[in-house]
Amino acid sequence: MAIALFGTGLLGGAIARRLLEGGQELWVWNRTAERCQSLIQAGARTAPTAKEVAGQADWLVTVLSDGPSTEALLLGELDQQLAGRGVIQIATIAPEQSQALAAGVAERGGRYLETPVLGSKPEALVGRLQLMAGGEPEVFAAAEPLLKQLSEAPRHLGPVGSAMACKLALNQLIASLTHAFSLSLHLVQRSGVDVESFMEILRGSALYAPTFDKKLERELQGDYDNPNFPTAHLRKDLALFLEASQAAGLNGEGLEGLLELLQRSSDAGLDGLDYSALHALTAGHGAGRAPH
Ligand SMILES: NC(=O)c1ccc[n+]([C@@H]2O[C@H](COP(=O)([O-])OP(=O)(O)OC[C@H]3O[C@@H](n4cnc5c(N)ncnc54)[C@H](OP(=O)(O)O)[C@@H]3O)[C@@H](O)[C@H]2O)c1
Repeated sequence: MAIALFGTGLLGGAIARRLLEGGQELWVWNRTAERCQSLIQAGARTAPTAKEVAGQADWLVTVLSDGPSTEALLLGELDQQLAGRGVIQIATIAPEQSQALAAGVAERGGRYLETPVLGSKPEALVGRLQLMAGGEPEVFAAAEPLLKQLSEAPRHLGPVGSAMACKLALNQLIASLTHAFSLSLHLVQRSGVDVESFMEILRGSALYAPTFDKKLERELQGDYDNPNFPTAHLRKDLALFLEASQAAGLNGEGLEGLLELLQRSSDAGLDGLDYSALHALTAGHGAGRAPH
């Protein structure tokens, strides 16, 4: 069984490496070809065009940035390559975008499964992503051996759209928890409270989430380099969550300010940095004063 993986960015590159380590025949393609080089040295194969790469494989795995780029690749460039092949779509996109892709792939004679993941480069490299699947049960069953190389327990959640909705629900928590912790941390520091005392109280309470400690050092140091998940993708996912929640008739007003804040990340030069760079946006103005 040969696999063609499209999009060797942070997540796609790590997934490709994991598949290679599992002994898979792997073909890779990336818009910026140089980004495939280290994978080719590790045993992956490539060809000059996405079409030629797809032509070598049974399964096409997509890990591009977003819905529009994935659609342009699958239903545009690979239009003629979909018949008889399976598509495993990993990028986080809107549930409706995923459903439109599924319909487009089916019209061209292919099979489609959405498989967004929770976890990042480190989890991908060791096959411990939390993988959610949406699609026909038969397609999930056919893809399962491949999915098990990426995730210890891939979960089939329902039809196409269901796994993307679940993924957006999880990523809304990433944005909200990071934002909430960041503001509290700033206030603690500006009030002259010892950060470790604050953390000890928090860790001993029901309010604690492990992500707080995971990001604490980065936030204290202002070090957002070498991201596994960049700020621009968190903004994309929060915007998708708000669209999906609006379509579901929810009141997402409380999150709109957070999306506005994240929209300032481009001008602030934070888009390519770790998403905990949100902490730089919540800093506002002035260093504040410790109370007497
Ligand atoms: N990183 C994570 O931890 C993580 C976790 C879960 C889900 N995700 C999701 O997975 C997807 C990929 O994330 P990532 O972190 O790997 O992003 P990334 O490092 O920014 O990589 C994005 C990939 O998409 C390609 N791309 C972007 N626009 C394109 C276009 N118009 N045409 C063709 N290729 C295009 C890029 O190619 P170039 O190299 O040429 O720019 C690159 O291969 C996103 O939807 C993200 O939300 C990421």
